[in-house]
Amino acid sequence: MNKDIRKIAVLTSGGDAPGMNAAIRAVVRTGRFYEIEVIGVQLGYDGLIDKQFRVLDARSVANILSRGGTFLKSARSDRFRTQEGRKQAFENIQSEQIDALVVIGGDGSFTGADIFSREHDVPVIGIPGTIDNDLAGTDFTIGFDSACNTAVEAIDKIRDTASSHQRVFFIEVMGRDAGFIAVNAAISGGAGAVIVPEHEWTIEQLIEKLQVAAQNKKSSNLVIVAEGSHLGNAFKIAKKVQKQIDYFDIRVTVLGHLQRGGAPSNLDRVLASRLGVAAVEGLKEGKSKVMVGIINQQLVYTPIHEAIKLEKPLIDEEFRIARILST
Ligand code: F6P
Repeated sequence: MNKDIRKIAVLTSGGDAPGMNAAIRAVVRTGRFYEIEVIGVQLGYDGLIDKQFRVLDARSVANILSRGGTFLKSARSDRFRTQEGRKQAFENIQSEQIDALVVIGGDGSFTGADIFSREHDVPVIGIPGTIDNDLAGTDFTIGFDSACNTAVEAIDKIRDTASSHQRVFFIEVMGRDAGFIAVNAAISGGAGAVIVPEHEWTIEQLIEKLQVAAQNKKSSNLVIVAEGSHLGNAFKIAKKVQKQIDYFDIRVTVLGHLQRGGAPSNLDRVLASRLGVAAVEGLKEGKSKVMVGIINQQLVYTPIHEAIKLEKPLIDEEFRIARILST
């Protein structure tokens, strides 16, 4: 056990994700449990540079467990990409006698954390918070399950119109360069096709699939498009398809930032709580430069540089069943 950890700072960085508040709460309350002071940093790395610090006690995180967004606010900091910005952040950490840093965010935030912890002598632990689920070292990232639930709720509603009007809808979901949300939404939403960055597909193959579905008397169809698709965005794909097929009507819906908002699901609340506790306990045990995650229900600490560099493949079986069930 490392007895030197008396004061830690916590921040959220990058795109917000449902469950980030639950993770902050867990860090603060675990800190209190172990008599460690917790400082909340406002606005991510920018707040670290501008010294936007405030003490968080157990009561200051009351009633945030169920709220989406991040009450510490977030930013994608350009200044933290510079050596000068990171030096200023380190000086602020030193002047406040902060012993360690907890960063809740996605791969951009962890790239910053990785560089910072190699340049400066301060223990850093990452908690994976992103709807994209694109980090190695954990089965799920905080926010992914909630984003999928939101996407599926929207898809169910779109299906009502699709079937009433016998239309084909192209529905674009987020995920940056990864297709996790798309595949999950395709399975849960009963999609007729799913297009993800991880699997090459041609417009011709897609058209053939839609034609076969129409021949099989499928009167409506939903195609889920991951935003990082190599075929382009949902509008572009829809236009190409409509050019070659005129016997069904096509519409496009981009779900966008809807997927980032709203109350976290039960799974995300539990995940965020477990990871928040494990982050503080990891720091107490002397861990640093790692991201805490859960793989097969076991807590795992993965070097931050591996969490961002290692490929996180889609689950093959999920992709396969999305295709099987789409007929
Ligand atoms: O990383 C989360 C995410 O929502 C991605 O899915 C998406 O590509 C991106 O952030 C959008 O970023 P912004 O909110 O800055 O437009």
